[in-house]
Amino acid sequence: MGKKSLYLLISCALLSYFVYTPLPENIEQPWKMMTIWALVRAQAQLSGILKILGFSPLVITHLFKVPPTSDANVTVTDTLFDKVPVRVFEPKQKSSTMRRAVFYIHGGGWTMGDATWIPYDNLGRQMADKLGAVVVSTNYRLSPQYHFPTQFEDVYDALRWFLRKEVLAEFGVDPARICIAGDSAGGNLAAAATQKILDDPEVKIKVKIQSLLYPALQALDMDLPSYRENAHMAILPKYEMVVFWSMYFTSDKALEEAMLANQHTPVESSHLFQFVNWSTLLPERFQKGHLYTNPIHGHSDLTKKYPGFLDVRASPLLADDSKLQALPLTHILTCQYDVLRDDGLMYVSRLRAAGVQVVHEHVEDWLHGVLSFNRFLRAGDREVNKYLKWLGENL
Ligand SMILES: *[C@@H]1O[C@H](CO)[C@@H](O)[C@H](O)[C@H]1NC(C)=O
Ligand SMILES: *[C@@H]1O[C@H](CO)[C@@H](O)[C@H](O)[C@H]1NC(C)=O
Repeated sequence: MGKKSLYLLISCALLSYFVYTPLPENIEQPWKMMTIWALVRAQAQLSGILKILGFSPLVITHLFKVPPTSDANVTVTDTLFDKVPVRVFEPKQKSSTMRRAVFYIHGGGWTMGDATWIPYDNLGRQMADKLGAVVVSTNYRLSPQYHFPTQFEDVYDALRWFLRKEVLAEFGVDPARICIAGDSAGGNLAAAATQKILDDPEVKIKVKIQSLLYPALQALDMDLPSYRENAHMAILPKYEMVVFWSMYFTSDKALEEAMLANQHTPVESSHLFQFVNWSTLLPERFQKGHLYTNPIHGHSDLTKKYPGFLDVRASPLLADDSKLQALPLTHILTCQYDVLRDDGLMYVSRLRAAGVQVVHEHVEDWLHGVLSFNRFLRAGDREVNKYLKWLGENL
C-alpha cells in the first residue's frame, strides 16, 4: 500500500469515527443524518472555541440566516409587531375571500433559532404558498442573555398585536381561521400562549386550532421513559435538553445540577406531579420496561430563586383540567426517538381527558426536529407535507 492510500485510509477512518453515531435501525438515510448531526456538533464545538477566544458564538449562527426575499408566489417582509421582530409571509395570488393565518414560533431550546433561519424561512414560505395563508413567524429574545418570562412575553406581545381586528383586516385575515403553531421550544411557547389567551380579557379574537410539533411541555420530571430511552440520542440528548430548560430560567448551574439529578421540585409543590405522572398519563406501550418511582424532592431555595419552572407559562402541562377544557382543536406531533416524546404524549392524554379534540400523530421512525430537515431528508419532506395537509383540512 502506498503512503497516499494509507493517508487516505486513515483520514476516512477518522472522518467516519467523527461522523458515525449509532442511530435506531429504522431511520431512513442514516449516513446523511449522521453527517448533519456531526456538522451540528462541530458547529457547537467551534462556538465553544470562539467563546473562549472572546468572540460571540453568534457569528456562526448568522450563517443560517437568510434575508427576506420574496419569490414568485410569496411576499416576504421583516417587520416589528409591538417591538418584536417578525417575518411575515403573504401569498401573492389574489384571494376573493379572507385568508387563513398561522402564527408560528420557532424552536431552538429558548437559546437559539430565528425566524430567518433557512429551515424556518422554508417552512414559512411553504405554509403561505400551499395554504394560501398569511404566516407570521415570530422571534423572541433568547437565553442566556434573557431568561423566562422574556421569551414568553415577547411571543405573547407579538401575538396580541396580531390578534386585533385592525391588524388582521390589514393583512386580509379571517379572524375565525387562525392557528398558533410551533416546534420544540416554540411548541412550548405555542402551547403556553394558546392557554394564556383563553383568559385574557384583552384578547377578543380566539384561535381556531393549535399545532404543537414535538413540544417541550414540562420541567418537573426529567426522568420520563422518553428521557431514559433517548438520553444519548442524536439531535437532542438529555443533557442538552436539561441545559436548555435550566438556562431558560437561570444561568446558575445549581438548577442544572438539580434538574440532571431530577431533584429540583420541592415537597411543597408535590401536588403538581399528578399533572406529569407518566404512570397514569402514558399509554401502556410507552411505559414498557420502565418502573415508575415517586419523585425525590429538592430544596425549596431553588424554587424561591427560580420559580419559573413551576409556572404554567413555562410548563403548560401544569394547567388544571378546568383550564385545558377550553382549548381549541389541537394537533400534536411526537417522535419516537425524542426525549420530548412523553411530554407530547402526556398532553394528548390530559387534553383528551379534559374533553379537548386532539389529533395526534406519532412518527415511529424519526428523531427530534423532523420538520427542520425539510428539503434535506425525505423524512422531513414527508412530515412537512403531512403537517401542511392537516392544516389545509382543519384551518
Ligand atoms: C409557485 O407556485 C407554482 C404553482 O403552484 C409552483 O409550481 C412553483 O414551484 C411555486 N414557486 C415557488 C418558488 O415556490
Ligand atoms: C403516580 O401514579 C401512580 C399510579 O396511579 C401512583 O401510585 C403515584 O402515587 C402517583 N405519583 C404521584 C407523585 O402523583
